Amino acid sequence: MNPVKQGGKWGMTYPYTLSFRNDVSVHRKGGDIILTNGRISALRLKEPSPGLSAIVDSLSDKGGTEDALCNILINEDGASNLGKFYYHLSKLMEKDFLCRTVKHEGQCISTLEPISKYFQFKEQHIDSNVKYRISRFAYCHDENGRMVLESPLGHCRLVLHDWRGAAYINMLSQPCTVRDINIAFPDVNKEVVRQVFVFLFNTHAICEVDEDGNVAEEHNNALLQWEFHDLLLHARSRAGRHSNPVGGTYRFMKKIDPLPAVKTKMNGETVELYKPDIEKLKKDDVPFTFVVEKRCSVRENGEDPLTAEQIGEFLYRSARIRKIMDAVPEKGLYSQVSNRPYAGGGAIYELELYLTINRCKGLEKGMYHYDPKEHTLTRISDYNDKLEKLLKDASRASARDYLPDTLITYTARFQRFMWKYQSMAYAVILKDAGLLMQNMYLVATAMNLAPCAIGNGDSDLFAEASGLDYYVEGSVGEFTLESKKK
Ligand SMILES: Cc1cc2nc3c(=O)[nH]c(=O)nc-3n(C[C@H](O)[C@H](O)[C@H](O)COP(=O)(O)O)c2cc1C
Repeated sequence: MNPVKQGGKWGMTYPYTLSFRNDVSVHRKGGDIILTNGRISALRLKEPSPGLSAIVDSLSDKGGTEDALCNILINEDGASNLGKFYYHLSKLMEKDFLCRTVKHEGQCISTLEPISKYFQFKEQHIDSNVKYRISRFAYCHDENGRMVLESPLGHCRLVLHDWRGAAYINMLSQPCTVRDINIAFPDVNKEVVRQVFVFLFNTHAICEVDEDGNVAEEHNNALLQWEFHDLLLHARSRAGRHSNPVGGTYRFMKKIDPLPAVKTKMNGETVELYKPDIEKLKKDDVPFTFVVEKRCSVRENGEDPLTAEQIGEFLYRSARIRKIMDAVPEKGLYSQVSNRPYAGGGAIYELELYLTINRCKGLEKGMYHYDPKEHTLTRISDYNDKLEKLLKDASRASARDYLPDTLITYTARFQRFMWKYQSMAYAVILKDAGLLMQNMYLVATAMNLAPCAIGNGDSDLFAEASGLDYYVEGSVGEFTLESKKK
């Protein structure tokens, strides 16, 4: 057993089983053993002793407690190699190769799995009478048929092997001690419960409740302001505290066809749009610095409505396709990409534009989809209550007392992006929306129009108004465009 200092005296923790994580593979080369963990992390054990080699075999199989592993070494090598054993054990822990499993009568209750190279296990002393409760950042989900508990605050996950783990967590929704759980589950060894608490603590899934009923998490001004979903997106969409692949992994290649660069034309009447003379604009347009310095959000419209020609020029200058490049797999380009006036992650350009026209000379009220290749609009819906609600929401969000002339809703063809990118897909889609917004601001300013980004919109309402599938092509951004007051 591991001696642990508890409140000034040395106590014992319940012996957990050590084993390799599922993704650790063992290669034997020459006399050496090379361990890799499915990512880049590798550890070479140079000419390991028979005892160390037997320990590696045990860790890749069912594993063993620290004492059991020690015994393997002593049986094979004698006690003189114990120092080496602890050295290698600490290296394996450092490399986040090892899982810790707590068992009751031979049955696995829960396993602590490191998911980040920053994980450091803490033998936290858990007092049986101190209250803990579940953190508001903890969540359970299925992972390849296993129920796992994770938190964006932590660097490891807890696998819940049987119903008891889940039952403890349910009890922890209210302040609860190890003793409370011991009373509720008298058949389970008390120290097993305490060890599960140690694991929960390491997962950052539980917080200590003080005598006044407070938890530190709620008195930390930084954490207090994080919402669960925001912190989870932040932690999982950036590299760091998880071991999921990040970036262009093409995990659906050869399983699902990638979406083409241009969305198939939607049903509805086609409206040809005006194309400005870009070469002339390059020479005669207002200076760049004038535009950047003049750019601002405008929340009032002019007396005269926008015109269809202005909308044509605006879309052409801010969002058209300049060029399409077909996939060239031998050069590492596995799907069609395109070139447009704004930058876009991976040149994927997953964003589509839908214009809800309220007041525009030359365009009837209704909803239109923009085809950035043909530079046309397709009229997909007559004006109706749902479109009015979209306009009302934008009006409220921008503190207007009237409905904006034009609402441009950005959607993302999610799977176009998700086909290639992993972990970061949604985060980059939002970044792409931000870039398009800035480009629209600049073009609108150069054209002396009134632009304003809108921070939120109802994606379900948009799905109903457009008839698009929420999960296939959902709204991710809104922008209003109007004529400018003279
Ligand atoms: C992502 C984003 C969301 C925004 N959301 C709104 C909004 O919902 N309502 C609004 O009136 N302005 C919104 N704005 C405009 C900002 O309020 C504005 O950019 C900021 O106050 C700076 O002013 P300026 O754009 O005039 O320089 C948003 C801007 C951005 C970039």
